[in-house]
Amino acid sequence: MSELPFSQACENNKQVILEILQRHFKDGDQVLELSGGTGQHAVHFAQNLPNLHWQSSDIPSNVDSLNLRLAGAMLTNLPAAISIDVNHTPWNSGRPTAIFSANSLHIMSADSVENFFKGIGEALQADGTLIVYGPFKYTGEFTSPSNEGFDRLLKDRDPASGVRDFEWISDLATLANLTLFEDNAMPANNRLLVFKKAKQS
Ligand SMILES: C[S@@+](CC[C@H](N)C(=O)[O-])C[C@H]1O[C@@H](n2cnc3c(N)ncnc32)[C@H](O)[C@@H]1O
Repeated sequence: MSELPFSQACENNKQVILEILQRHFKDGDQVLELSGGTGQHAVHFAQNLPNLHWQSSDIPSNVDSLNLRLAGAMLTNLPAAISIDVNHTPWNSGRPTAIFSANSLHIMSADSVENFFKGIGEALQADGTLIVYGPFKYTGEFTSPSNEGFDRLLKDRDPASGVRDFEWISDLATLANLTLFEDNAMPANNRLLVFKKAKQS
């Protein structure tokens, strides 16, 4: 059997993220995960939130490896992941009531980040919740030397990537009819941002 994709960071952060998801996601939610990666988050959250439906996704080239882990979990609320590249709209996601994405905005190009929010503005149901997790800059400043080093590492690998400005992300969210509800400090200098979509959209 092929080796499952694995991220130590996911192992480290999945429980602290879950504790916040438990406050915001509700029974019956249809959750869309963008940029699912290794699937460790999807399995942990679907296992621990059995009354919601967790639809993971990733770019086409990553879906097969993501599905290796999801298939092994055999959870009825965790179907096979679907292909979504945020740049290709409309997404084949239907109309989720909640959207989650971790560690994706600093990997995508700035254009892709804009498309991420445009797509969410179209797909997420009115009164829905968006949760994004990862490192952010505030008023143009890194929150730690390690995040500054991480940004340099990202840019050496791909000049289009990099730690994003919280204010820019908030502005893109506003354009998508979303309002910032919480900004949670997380371990390892990460943040977890919770946005709510307007009740009428
Ligand atoms: C650092 S990984 C994060 C994966 C996982 N969410 C985690 O927390 O470990 C970045 C993810 O962004 C995805 N990604 C990159 N470009 C994308 C795009 N245009 N649309 C959707 N996902 C994209 C990658 O395939 C990858 O799964």
